[in-house]
Amino acid sequence: MTDINESYLYKLFKKSEEAESVYTIGTTVDTGLEWQAVDECKEKVDTTLHVVKERGKIYFNIRLDQFSKVKEMRSIDNIFLVSDVRQFNFSEDDGETDLMLLKNAIEKDLRLEKGLEAWKAMTGFRGKLYPKQEEFKDADKLLKAEKNQPPEDAVVGDVRKRRKRGRDPSLSSEEDILKYRVTCERTGSHAFESGQVARVIGGELQDKYFWLVDLTMYHLEVICNLVQNELATCLRITHESKHRRNIIHFGPTTLRATVCYNLLRLANPKPGDIIIDPMCGGGSIPIEAAIAFPDTYVLCGDNHEKAVARTKLNIDAQSINHKTELITWSVAKLPLKDSYVDIVVTDMPFGKRSGSMTDNRVLYKRYITELARVAKLGTGRLVLLTYDRRSIQMASGLNFHKIFVILETH
Ligand SMILES: C[S@@+](CC[C@H](N)C(=O)[O-])C[C@H]1O[C@@H](n2cnc3c(N)ncnc32)[C@H](O)[C@@H]1O
Repeated sequence: MTDINESYLYKLFKKSEEAESVYTIGTTVDTGLEWQAVDECKEKVDTTLHVVKERGKIYFNIRLDQFSKVKEMRSIDNIFLVSDVRQFNFSEDDGETDLMLLKNAIEKDLRLEKGLEAWKAMTGFRGKLYPKQEEFKDADKLLKAEKNQPPEDAVVGDVRKRRKRGRDPSLSSEEDILKYRVTCERTGSHAFESGQVARVIGGELQDKYFWLVDLTMYHLEVICNLVQNELATCLRITHESKHRRNIIHFGPTTLRATVCYNLLRLANPKPGDIIIDPMCGGGSIPIEAAIAFPDTYVLCGDNHEKAVARTKLNIDAQSINHKTELITWSVAKLPLKDSYVDIVVTDMPFGKRSGSMTDNRVLYKRYITELARVAKLGTGRLVLLTYDRRSIQMASGLNFHKIFVILETH
């Protein structure tokens, strides 16, 4: 294995392996907004942190006592602990041999104990990480009998509705034997399927640790991230994505809270700033602004009465005591003085689920002219989210300071 093949993640993980109490953390972030997550990570966890940025992910090493800071981050969706990174010499045309290579490596020297102890501390799992074989056999029989019963609608429905991953490990009891599933995410050309990798690794882990397989109500999801010849074995920490916060009443175009936060960060809010979202839909941007930047003054509105009503319900459902003004208005004619607003962050109607592409050419011009009028001369910042980049460029005739391409925002 030459140095040239070692990925940044591989090198980062090797550093964490050398130190007893250092762990590699990975987080997912909306593609296109990774730099916001890198900046927030340094700001909240440690300014000197070395952060590895990949498409849709960031990685960094922390001590266990820094984990509470990672949990506070608002730019990221899911958190996982990287427990092993290794490279393979796959044949690329002989699937059986390649799977055997994986199996032997896992059997021989995959040691997840350091990661598992940290996972337990980070998730609050209270059950048994290392059950005895007899305990496993009894629990496995019980679980199989349970699985043969028709599912209780309430439980299945509840999990689907909230789209949680498995179950909350902190709600386990001391008697619970760890339930797990293995998921394989694969990039590159291989002579085997992702499902085969998951089965091989899942089987080896069961032989090693006597855990119970449960594909839906698991405590631990082991994610095997195979990129070309490099396998990163990760333990999921968050059983629910961090973008699911703030909003209770959803609309057709509700924006993820993590995206709202990252858009707001792009505008660099300062204490005392006036922030507006003139097309607020159900209020996801103003609510995130009020929570994440409590020293600002937040104003929002929409021209659709249902959207205004939804925003009001969502604001009223918050426990914070931050005043957010909500007004029914049209962005084409805002009831605001010239040069009044420090920051405009808004999610434009874009013609997919709201607005129409043809309208955009005309409307965007009118809207941007009005936003330019209310924005503070010289220092005002405008962060506009749209799928219709062409219309916005044509309408404004401007070359935007920065254009970020973001995927999967709603
Ligand atoms: C993409 S949605 C915003 C979604 C919002 N960010 C959320 O998470 O719920 C665009 C919104 O712009 C509003 N809108 C369209 N034209 C408008 C106008 N002239 N003035 C104010 N709001 C307008 C629509 O009613 C819609 O709620």
